[in-house]
This record gives sequence, structure tokens and C-alpha cells, in this order.
Amino acid sequence: MDRFAIEGGRPLEGKISGSGSKNATLPLMAASLLTQGVTVIRNVPELQDIRTMAMVLRVIGADIILENGTLNIDTSRCNFWEAPYELVRKMRASFYVLGPLIARFGKARVSLPGGCALGPRPVDLHLKGLQQLGCDISIDSGYVVAKARKLKGSEIRLDIASVGATGNLMMAALAANGVTLIDNAACEPEIVDLASMLCAMGAEIRGAGTPQVEVVGPAYLNPVEWTVIPDRIETATLLMAGAVTGGRIRLTGCRSDHLTIFLDKIKEAGADVKVEDSSVTIDMHGRKLGAVDVTTAVYPGFPTDLQPPWTALMSLAEGDTVITDSIYPERFTHVPELVRLGARIHKKVNSAYIKGVDHLTGAEVMCSDIRAAASLILATLAAEGRSNLMRVYHLDRGYERIEEKLAALGAKIQRISE
Ligand code: UD1
Repeated sequence: MDRFAIEGGRPLEGKISGSGSKNATLPLMAASLLTQGVTVIRNVPELQDIRTMAMVLRVIGADIILENGTLNIDTSRCNFWEAPYELVRKMRASFYVLGPLIARFGKARVSLPGGCALGPRPVDLHLKGLQQLGCDISIDSGYVVAKARKLKGSEIRLDIASVGATGNLMMAALAANGVTLIDNAACEPEIVDLASMLCAMGAEIRGAGTPQVEVVGPAYLNPVEWTVIPDRIETATLLMAGAVTGGRIRLTGCRSDHLTIFLDKIKEAGADVKVEDSSVTIDMHGRKLGAVDVTTAVYPGFPTDLQPPWTALMSLAEGDTVITDSIYPERFTHVPELVRLGARIHKKVNSAYIKGVDHLTGAEVMCSDIRAAASLILATLAAEGRSNLMRVYHLDRGYERIEEKLAALGAKIQRISE
């Protein structure tokens, strides 16, 4: 298992470019199943989660090559409609193949995702929506078994604006006869990217990016070439690495319009932010961060994926902060690790109450999920002295070549394989 040895306490400075979005790429890969032929996806981050989704598609019969950030997915010979537990348990987003498999084969057998470090993450909305489209759903030995002789366009109201359910239902609805309305749909940029690629393939989808999405079926889709949007979570995390170390970072190849609330919050915390075409520059001018409360919400609200890194930032802010996660109330495994570095945080229900400290001190800390790992890498970069960041495979799932990018900004960080 690899770890990072980090010598913290130095301001990060310089210019780097961001990667393509992991969370956008995963559903795009699943969408390739909706057509027969070669789908080409560019600006793909070379990450473990992408390789896991590639394995899921290979089980289904796709030929896949990932080279220099470009995925070639040939789905002509797909002949299997199952996603096994061994892969789905590694990455919940594998569940994205359910909708496309139903659309393509009229049946699917996909493992139910199990427990998760973020707390309970049910898939009831995916299944309820599929039933409304006319799918027969049962659970057999931990697998969702779906059968659909004929799908029919329907009105589906999601109780929660779930990203995964919106994506899955949008893709399944393409095989239904008539119009499907997904009400209270997720508005995240990753959903807009998926809908845009599906439309380029020949689908008629209206309203993506708003809470009412209409899908016209049945659609006959052709393979396309597509370029993935920049990773807004990576962008924000790298900008925060600049802020928490009191440095100055220019990030190119990013979409500031996907990060409006985050950029407002970081400005409020005292950072100087300059937005140009596709770049964002953050400069602390050596100032200390100010305390800024956040409550996570669905897009365009403050993303839950940025809550753990924001907690690291606010540990060093001047004053008291309250951070509330309304999406994943149990997503606070980073808190006890931050406390080991000297942070003063008290967790109650779904909130972290933080008393900003003057400095953190290096220590051994352990990552427990992708974004908790992001929180800890920020804190250890800011902490004085040496830290060991254990279980960095969580970072490798979500942040492309993170140690190279941080080293290019002047961080003293070394990957150690044991
Ligand atoms: C996606 C992101 C993840 C992010 C999350 C919320 C990917 C691959 N992952 O996950 O990084 O943290 O959005 O922005 O894009 N829920 C239900 N029933 C369901 C589905 C969801 O109750 O059937 C609940 C969840 O428990 C959670 C909330 O809805 O509380 C949001 O989940 P959802 O938007 O579905 O997240 P994911 O798509 O799994």
C-alpha cells in the first residue's frame, strides 16, 4: 500500500492544468453501451475508478483502450448484461450500467452497491423510477434483476435530486416509447455533460441542467467522439491547496462557472480570486484565512464533495466555523484525523464545529475515502513538519497524478510504496 511522505508548511506557488472530470466520465462510459460501435472519449483522467468502470464494461463484452487521456470503447460485441459484485463493491458508480443495459438488452443483472464510508447510500430512487418506466425489478442474492419487455415513457418524480438516479433514468428512458419527464432531476454539470453527449449521439433530451428533464424515446443512437468537462472538484481542491498554504496558484483548463458558490466562499474567506477564460488564479497575499460557514446542497449549492477539504481549510481559519453536510450527514471520517494534526473540531449530528487554530503539526494520518483523503492532503501540506499520509489509494481513485501536480507547485511530497 502506498503512502505519501509530506514535509508541510510551505506556500504552494505556480501554474498547473486541471484534469477531466471523473464523475462526468463514468456515466459517459456507461452511455457507450447504448450504441454499437466505437465511442471515443477525450480528456479522461487516468484514475483507478476509470479503470474499474473499464473492467465493468469489459465483463459486458466491450473492447476498451485508454491511452493518453483518450478512451476508445467498442461496444459492437457486447453480449452480457451483468455487473458483478467484485467490481460494483469497489466503485458504486458501476451501478450506472443498469439503465444502459436495460435499454440495450431489455434485461440486466447488476450487483447492489454495499455499504459506503459516506454512510447509507441507497439506490431506491433508481429502482422506483425504472419500475415506473415499466421495468420488472427484483432482488436476487444481492443483485438487482431487471426485466423489461416494453418500456413506456412516464412521469417520474425523484424525492431527492439524485445525480446517479437522474443519469440512470435518463439513459433507460431512451429505450421507452414516448416522453419521460424526470421531475426534481439533478442539475449537476456532470448530468448536463451526459445529456449533451446523448444528444450528440442522436437523442432528444430537453431541460438537462434544470429540475425538469424530458427524454423522448425510443432513440436510435450512433457512437460519437466526446470531450469530457474539467473536474470541478479537482479544480477547487487544488485552489484550496494554494489557499490553505497561504500561496498563489493559477489553474488552467477549468470551468469557473461550475464553481460559482465555492469561489464566492473562498473569496469571503479572504482569497484574491481572478477568473480568466478557462483559468482561475487564487492568491492569499500571505493573509490568514477567515472563518466561513458552509452547508452542502445539491447543485448549484456548495458540493458535498468539497465539504471535507473545506473542513481542513477552516481548521486553520481565524475564528469559529460551522460546516453542515445535508447530503451525507455521516461524511466526517476526516475529522478525527484532522484532530490528530492539531485541529479543534467537534462533530455533532451532521455538523462540524471548528475553532480555528494558529497552526497544525505533522503526524501520521489515514485516508478513508476519496474526499476525506483530499481533506488530509491539504491539512498535511499546511501542517508544520513531516506527515505520513496512509492509504493514498483513495486519492488515486479520484485525483490524477496529484503528487506530481503538487510537487510542480513546490510541495515536498514523496510517494513511498511498501
Ligand atoms: C454523486 C457523486 C458523488 C457526490 C454525490 C452528491 C459520482 C460518481 N458520484 O454520487 O461524488 O458526492 O453525487 O453530489 O458522480 N439517494 C437516495 N436514494 C437513491 C439515490 C440517492 O436516498 O436512490 C440519496 C443519497 O443517499 C444521498 C443523496 O441522495 O444522500 C444524493 O445522492 P446522489 O446524488 O445519488 O449521489 P451519487 O450519484 O451516488
